[in-house]
Amino acid sequence: MEKREQMYEGKAKKVFATDDPALCIVSYKDDATAFNGKKKGTIEGKGVVNNKMSNYLMSEMEKAGIPTHFVKELSDRETVVKKVDIVPLEVIIRNTAAGSFSKRFGVAEGTKLLRPTLEFCYKCDELDDPMCNEYHIVACGWATQEEIDEITKLTFRINEFLCAFFAKVNVDLIDFKIEFGKTQDGTIILADEISPDTCRFWDATTHEKLDKDRFRRDLGHVEDAYQEMMRRIFGE
Ligand code: TMP
Repeated sequence: MEKREQMYEGKAKKVFATDDPALCIVSYKDDATAFNGKKKGTIEGKGVVNNKMSNYLMSEMEKAGIPTHFVKELSDRETVVKKVDIVPLEVIIRNTAAGSFSKRFGVAEGTKLLRPTLEFCYKCDELDDPMCNEYHIVACGWATQEEIDEITKLTFRINEFLCAFFAKVNVDLIDFKIEFGKTQDGTIILADEISPDTCRFWDATTHEKLDKDRFRRDLGHVEDAYQEMMRRIFGE
């Protein structure tokens, strides 16, 4: 398989075409942004961590019957993935109150929610990714009701998988954001990434933050947090 022209550059990744129309190559950068690009920086080694963590989690999910875009890791930063049309939704699961949930509803950060809670946001930087519901999604044509039902079912399965996985390495999965894509034949699969950029990870004992909130909130030891998550998953 041969790498071809760059198709797209996002805030944290580049996407390249290949000579196979069904496959792309993603390349993970160390660039970090927050607040929809208003805060910018670099997190040394982040691209490697996010690539390897996403690939490992997605390959384990495939074994558990959850369809993902993962095909093959090429190098520390580059991975072959299935080409999809991204459904323009950020799908969020919250197990514990934090971030914008705490702010919006006045629920203290760290409050365990009575049940895992799903949110949809419309993926649009210019509009600051507004929260939306199923009616908005169908009304605007971002996905059909059938696609929303499939996304919802997969998202709760992914939450169960990830909670159990991270519990084994003494990490509480506070919340996360995922994205889905549609293959040529219309199948909905997990796409994008699962990493400290897109999840809140707290040490289950000390509640130390091991994710991008260290960058967003200027807490220091940002690189250390990414490397610590890498160690927990892959060992030394
Ligand atoms: P929030 O509390 O800021 O809404 O974030 C919820 C989760 O989504 C958290 O795990 C971080 C992740 N997230 C992203 O992956 N991308 C984003 O642009 C935002 C705002 C949050």
